[in-house]
Amino acid sequence: MSDFPLSAGGARRPLSGSRRALTAGALGVLGVVTALATTLPANAAASTLGAAAAQSGRYFGTAIAAGHMNDSTYVATWDREFNSVTAENEMKWGPIEPSRNSFNWGSADQIVNHAVSKGMKVRGHTLVWHAQLPSWINNNMSASDLRSAMTNHITQVMNHYKGKVYAWDVVNEAFNDGGAVGTLRSSIFTQKLGNGFIEEAFRAARAADPNVKLCYNDYNIDNATAAKTQGVYNMVKDFKARGVPIDCVGLQSHFGNPPSNYQQNIAQFAALGVDVQITELDVGGSGSTQADAYRRVVQACTAVPRCAGITVWGITDKWSWRSGDTPLLFDGNFNKKQAYNSVLDALNAATPNTSPSPSASPSRSPSASPSASPSASPSASPSASPTRSPLPGGCSATIKTINSWGGGFQSEVTVQAGSSAVNGWTVKWTWPSGQSISSLWNGRQSTSGSSVTVTNETYNGSIAAGGSTTFGFTANGNAATPTATCTSP
Ligand code: G3I
Repeated sequence: MSDFPLSAGGARRPLSGSRRALTAGALGVLGVVTALATTLPANAAASTLGAAAAQSGRYFGTAIAAGHMNDSTYVATWDREFNSVTAENEMKWGPIEPSRNSFNWGSADQIVNHAVSKGMKVRGHTLVWHAQLPSWINNNMSASDLRSAMTNHITQVMNHYKGKVYAWDVVNEAFNDGGAVGTLRSSIFTQKLGNGFIEEAFRAARAADPNVKLCYNDYNIDNATAAKTQGVYNMVKDFKARGVPIDCVGLQSHFGNPPSNYQQNIAQFAALGVDVQITELDVGGSGSTQADAYRRVVQACTAVPRCAGITVWGITDKWSWRSGDTPLLFDGNFNKKQAYNSVLDALNAATPNTSPSPSASPSRSPSASPSASPSASPSASPSASPTRSPLPGGCSATIKTINSWGGGFQSEVTVQAGSSAVNGWTVKWTWPSGQSISSLWNGRQSTSGSSVTVTNETYNGSIAAGGSTTFGFTANGNAATPTATCTSP
C-alpha cells in the first residue's frame, strides 16, 4: 500500500510585479532577507532567463554538448541566457571512464571550466545509470567487483569536480515505467547488487563529497498519481527516515504538457525535506500551446519554495535529442520562440523565494532544520499564526503557510526556545474547519478530532536558548494558521 499523499492539485497565481515589489519591500523592512531585498530592484523585469530566475533565488540552466562549443552563437546564447549547465553526455560513465580507472575528463572539463569561468552552477549528470555504460561493465563481473567499480567511479568523478558541481544525479532512471509501485528496472545493478544499489550509491557519494547536493533523477515522475512517481516518493521518504543521504529529486520533465497535478507533485516531494529540480525540461509542440505548457511548468516550480531551479535539455531545436518535436526555447537559428517569452515572463512574475534550500544533508540524521529560520516564503508571512513570547525555559510555536493548492496546503511550524534551553517540546493546536494532516516531518503527531499534538523527534528536541527548530506538514483542506501552544517538560 502506497503512503503517497493524493489530493487534487491546481496552479497558484504568481504575484503581480507591483505586489512582488511590495512584498520584497516589506521583507526588507522586517530585515528577514536583506540580501534579497537589495538584489531585487522593484518592478524590474530581467531580460534573460538566468537573471529572471535569480530574482526568485533560482537558477535556469541548459544541457550543453561539448561537441557544439565551436559554434559561437551556441556559446553566446548559453552565456547570455543561462546561469547553470548540465553536460548532456560527457559526464556519463561510458564517456568519462571508458577504461577501468582511466578517466577521460577532456570534454566534461571543457563544459565545466567554461561554466565556472562564467560563474554558472553545474549539475553533474550522472554517476550511476543503466545506459551509456562503458563496455568493461558487463555480466562477467562479480557483485563485489561491480560494487568496487561503482564506488571507485563515484569517488573519482566526484573528487575531480569537487567544489565545481552544485548537485549530482547520483542515480538516474532506476525505476520501472508502469508496474507495481516501487519496482525497479532490471539492470546490471539490480541483477548483481540487488535493489540496495541505489542506497549504496548515495552513501558512497556522500562519503566522496559531504558538501554537494545528491539527487535522484528520473523521467515520468511528473504526475503525482503515477505508480512510478509513488515509488520514488516512497524511496525518498524511506531514505529521509533512515538517514540515507539524499538532498534532491530531479524531475526530468520530458513531456508535451505538464500533468495537472505537477505543482502538487513538486510540493509533495519538497515536503519530504528535499529540493526538487526540474532537470531535463523539454516540451514538444509549437506556438501558444507550447508556450502555455512551458509557462505552467515555470509557475509550478516557482510556487514551491524548495523547487530550486529549472534546466532545459538543450538550447536549440536543431540539436535536441527529440528535434522532431521542436521542444526547446530557441529555434534552429537560435531565434527566441514564443515559449521563450512565456518562460521569461513567468520567471519575472515569480514570488521572491526566501526559502533557499539548505546545504547538503548530513549522512546520518534525517532532515532536521536546526537553525533559526528566516525560511518562510514571503507570501506566507501574512498568514502566520500569532506567536506568544516564550517564558524563560518555555517555548513558543508559529504556524506559517508555505504553499497551497486546491484542496490542500503545506505549512512550516517554527518552535522557538525562550531564554533557557529546551529539552523536548510539544506543540498543540486545533483546526478551525476540518483540516487534516496528510504527511508530517521532523515531528511526531497524534490527532484527536480537530486537536493536533506534535512532539519532537529524538534529533530535534534540544533547542539552545533563543534558538529554534522547525517541523512541517502537508494537509488537506483550506490553508489555516491556528494559534499553537508550545510546552516543554
Ligand atoms: O559520440 C558518439 C559518436 O562518436 C558516434 O559517431 C555517434 C553514432 O551514433 O554516437 C555518438 O554518441 C551519441 C551521443 O548521444 C552523443 O551525441 C549516442 O549515440 C546517443 O545515444 C547519445 O544520445 C544521448 C542519450 O541521452 C543517450 O541515452 C542524448 O544525446 C542525450 O540527450 C540523452 O539524454 C538523456 C539523459 O541523459 C537522461 N534522461 C533522458 C535523456 C534523453 O534521452
